[in-house]
Amino acid sequence: MSTLLTLIKKYDILRGSKTDLFFFMKIFLDTAETDVISKYFSTGLVDGVTTNPTLIRKSGRNPEDVYQEIKDMGVQDISMEVVGSDLEMYDEGKRLYEKFGDVCTVKVPCTREGLSVCKALSDQGVKVNVTLIFCAAQAVLAAKAGATYVSPFVGRLDDQSVAGLEVVRSISELYRIHGMRTQVLSASIRSVQRAIRSWYNGAEICTMPPKVFDQMYDHILTDKGLEIFDNDWKQVQQ
Ligand code: E4P
Repeated sequence: MSTLLTLIKKYDILRGSKTDLFFFMKIFLDTAETDVISKYFSTGLVDGVTTNPTLIRKSGRNPEDVYQEIKDMGVQDISMEVVGSDLEMYDEGKRLYEKFGDVCTVKVPCTREGLSVCKALSDQGVKVNVTLIFCAAQAVLAAKAGATYVSPFVGRLDDQSVAGLEVVRSISELYRIHGMRTQVLSASIRSVQRAIRSWYNGAEICTMPPKVFDQMYDHILTDKGLEIFDNDWKQVQQ
């Protein structure tokens, strides 16, 4: 029995879906630049992609061409944001899901309209990412609306002198206590430190700009240590 309790605690079995048990600390790329996504997805370390209207605008491309290209790379989870009235968001979300299938996660804002669309789509088995989350109360409503993911914006909270990571921690803790299945997708990440601390504070997923992902590989002591090892190895061979 105690082993079972340890397992439940360790893997949070009461909370998550079983398929997610051994896939903690997912990395999503927060970009619509397909050449960059392709480069980093080929590492095998990237689990998904999030886009938003700003990122799509920056890409200068048709959104659906972007989504199709990302899907063709084999990315299994792509957040596609919808805008407009509740009816417009619902219709667009449904259409995107029918076109792109299970890789499509419909992204809606945390508004009254967005959450009613979240409920309607989630009830039909469509994954929904509720975005623009800035407090635990919003995350509670999103979870009750059946959201697969909530996206608290860490960087934008920090910009307002509110500790974004504290919001991540509150949401994760609330979900854990009450056994909610909604996953915390930490967004608006601007540094490796914020990504690592997001996971530490209970987020299942971090979506980050490619630059931050790239920086996760680096440590000055690794470079220094490698230099020493390389030099010593040359001497061994001599
Ligand atoms: C992701 O879902 C968000 O749209 C994104 O992380 C926002 O990041 P920003 O605050 O850097 O624009």
